[in-house]
Amino acid sequence: MRHFLDLADAGGDDIAAMIGDAIDRKKARAGWPKGKADADAPLAGRVLAMVFEKNSTRTRVSFDIAIRQLGGSPLVLDSGTSQLGRGESVADTARVLGRMVDAIMVRTDDHAKVEEMARHAGVPVINGLTDMSHPCQIMADLLTIIEHGKPLPGLQLAWLGDCNNVMNSLVEAAGLMKFDMRIGTPQGYVPEARYLVGARAAGSAITVTQDAAEAAAGADVVVTDTWISMGQAHADEKLAELAPFQVNAALMAQAKPDAKFLHCLPAHVGEEVSEEVFEGPQSVVFDEAENRLHAQKSVLLWCFGLLGSTPAG
Ligand code: CP
Ligand code: NVA
Repeated sequence: MRHFLDLADAGGDDIAAMIGDAIDRKKARAGWPKGKADADAPLAGRVLAMVFEKNSTRTRVSFDIAIRQLGGSPLVLDSGTSQLGRGESVADTARVLGRMVDAIMVRTDDHAKVEEMARHAGVPVINGLTDMSHPCQIMADLLTIIEHGKPLPGLQLAWLGDCNNVMNSLVEAAGLMKFDMRIGTPQGYVPEARYLVGARAAGSAITVTQDAAEAAAGADVVVTDTWISMGQAHADEKLAELAPFQVNAALMAQAKPDAKFLHCLPAHVGEEVSEEVFEGPQSVVFDEAENRLHAQKSVLLWCFGLLGSTPAG
């Protein structure tokens, strides 16, 4: 059984294969109506359930269209209208869904919930964001970086701002895909140890600095995200601490001249990124958003054992 709870579940070789397939499938259907299935419809007859305990636009739409383009069909459950919201356990929900659908994508708060879903579902479970990580987003980010002509091995990636779920998965990706990362973040903000230790053990140079310019210096890619993630209380103190880490024109000037700017969206323009950068020529945020679709198709194919080197088991 292949679950995609974090990038390490697939590993570097399979991630490379998934990105390669995403590029091929994207090219093969260029210009087609978005709802038309790919020629091979490899997941015909399969149903994907998507469980949301938090809001979503990109994750919901990309997985919905992804399973349709692969020939299958989607089903959405949200906590507000399902029994999950009235306290039915994750384990029971998993066992019920696993009897009726072929795979489950979950967006929730506590990472332990996706792990519990995976233990009980009997079908592949995909992490569509937890408080801890967002591996599906990073599949799209890696695809976007490669498409913009930047090979991953040896890449210098700068992360500016909060240490959050998206950053944790980027740190994990650095170790798996052999790139380096400089994190510019306030004193006391740290990546989750499980990802940091793994990436460093794999040989990636991951440095954490309180100097935003130092983090961005010579970077190939500059990435940020919201300063207040879903589920976190709005805190003026946190916004003030993060203010020096805004990605603006002065900061982008520290990076390589051809550096790209990425943001998973939704963005708070004027906070973590200036309008000039967000709307500027180095910004590839809408390519990145589109690539959620192409990358999520690869995640689904991998979960069904149709991509990657390791046999499903
Ligand atoms: N980037 C991302 O996961 O967006 P949504 O919250 O809209 O799904
Ligand atoms: N860090 C953000 C990502 C949203 C896609 C959050 O968790 O809200």
